[in-house]
Amino acid sequence: MMDISEQQLDPEAVLRLLARRRSVREFQTKTVDRTIIDAIINDAREAPTSCNHQMTHVVAVSDVQTKEALVAIAGANKHIVQAPVVLVLCFQKGWNHNKFAVVQSAAIMGYHMCLSAHLRGLATVWNAGIGNQQKVGELLHIPNQFEIIGIICIGYEKEGTAKKKAARRPLAGIRSWDTFHRPAASIYPLKKAASYPYDAIRIDNNTFSIFSPDVWGWDRIADLRSVAVYSKSPIKGVYLSRRFEKEMDAEVAELMSQHTSGKLLEVMPYGGSYTTKILQALQEDSELHIAELSQNNIDFVEERVQQDGLHTERIQTAVFERGILPYADNFFDTVFLPQVYESIPRRHDFLKEIHRVLKPGGRVVCTIRNMFSWFGVYYLKRERRGQVKNFGPYIPRMPFFSKRAIAHIFHIESDFGFTLLPNLVGKKETGLAKQCSRLYCIVAKKIL
Ligand SMILES: Cc1cc2nc3c(=O)[nH]c(=O)nc-3n(C[C@H](O)[C@H](O)[C@H](O)COP(=O)(O)O)c2cc1C
Repeated sequence: MMDISEQQLDPEAVLRLLARRRSVREFQTKTVDRTIIDAIINDAREAPTSCNHQMTHVVAVSDVQTKEALVAIAGANKHIVQAPVVLVLCFQKGWNHNKFAVVQSAAIMGYHMCLSAHLRGLATVWNAGIGNQQKVGELLHIPNQFEIIGIICIGYEKEGTAKKKAARRPLAGIRSWDTFHRPAASIYPLKKAASYPYDAIRIDNNTFSIFSPDVWGWDRIADLRSVAVYSKSPIKGVYLSRRFEKEMDAEVAELMSQHTSGKLLEVMPYGGSYTTKILQALQEDSELHIAELSQNNIDFVEERVQQDGLHTERIQTAVFERGILPYADNFFDTVFLPQVYESIPRRHDFLKEIHRVLKPGGRVVCTIRNMFSWFGVYYLKRERRGQVKNFGPYIPRMPFFSKRAIAHIFHIESDFGFTLLPNLVGKKETGLAKQCSRLYCIVAKKIL
C-alpha cells in the first residue's frame, strides 16, 4: 500500500488542507477552464463504486441560460447561476438499489469532485435542492432511467464572502466504540412506531414527525438549531423569506416605532434576519442584545450582520440554556419574541422568565404565527405533514389562548395582526381581522 509520506507529502498537512474545504455560495464571474473541470471529474473516477458498476454520470453545464433554467426549477439555490460551472450528478437505475448502494457510490464520487476542486483552488457547494427532477431531466436530455441526485456548483470564491465553516459536532457526538451511544440532545423525537421505513419518510411527507416543542424540549431544539443554521452561508440577506420579508419589515417598523430606546433583547434570532432589520432601525443610544441557544447561532448571526454591512459592536450576545436567560432581574426595556413563542417549550415558564428580566414598565412584544388563519390551514395541510424545519419544531397558536396566557403575567397594551390574506403580506390588521391574520401580535407591559 502506498504511504503518503513516501511521496514527500506530510499526511497531516494534506488532511488539514482537505479539512479546510467548505461550501461557498458566492462566486466570482471568472470562468473555469473546461480542462480543469474535466480533470476534476477524471479524479472522481478513482472513487469506489458498488460492484464497480460506475453507474454515475455527470453533466457539466456552463451555459448561463441553462443555469438560469435550473434555478427556476429549483426555486432556490441562486448560486447555481452565479457559479461558472455546475455538475449535475445522476446515476443509472436498476442496479445496486439495496442499501442505496448506487446512491452511496454517486455521493462518494460527488465528494471526491468537491475535494479535487478544493485542492485545485476552486470552491464548491453541493445542492440536493434541485426541484422537480423530471424537469431537470427534460432540460438536460437525461433519460428517465437516470436518477438526478444533485448539482455541484464549482467556481472561484467571491472575495469577502462568508468565511466561517459550518460548525461540526464534536467527535464524541458522532462516534461511539463497540455499541451505539449518542448524546440524548442529538436524538430527535419521532412518533412511536415498530419501524421507520426509510422510503416512507420524505421531506414533505413524514408521518413520524413531532412538531411539539414541549416534546422536543430545550436541549434538542438547541442542538438542531445549532447545526442546521449552517445549511446556508451567513451571507447578505440569507434567510430573508421572499414571501414574508414585507411582513417582517412591518413587524420591525411597528416594534421600533414605540420600543427602541434603552436595552432591547431579541430572543432566539436563529440566522439573524430580524437582527439585521432591528439594527438598521435602532436608535443611536439603544443597546441590542441577542440571546440564542447555541454559540454556533451567535457566530452565524455575527458574520451575517457584518456581511449585511452592519456593525456587530452594536450587539451584545449571550447563550442561554433550558429557558433561563443569563441576565439580571429588571434589566431590559423591551423583549422581542419574533415568531418565537410558538417554537419554545414550557411557554408559561419562559414568559415568567421574560417578566423577570424586564424592567417594571418594560414591554414584551410577541409576534405569533396564528393557527386561526390561512397560514394555519397551510400549516396543517402542508408544513406539519413534512419534516420539522431547520429552525426547530413549532405549532402556530390560537390568538385567544396566547392572549390569555400572556395576560396571566403581563398587562396587555395592544394586539393586532399582519397579513390577513396571502396577497396582503405586511398589512396591519385590527378588529376582527387581527384574529385571523397570519401573525398575531401582542404588546404587553410588566406591572409589579
Ligand atoms: C447531500 C447534500 C445536499 C446539500 N444540499 C444543499 C442545498 O440544496 N443547498 C445548499 O445551499 N447547500 C446544500 N448542501 C451543503 C450543506 O448545507 C453543507 O455541506 C453543510 O452545511 C456543511 O457545510 P460545509 O460544506 O461548508 O462544511 C448540501 C450538502 C449535501 C452533502
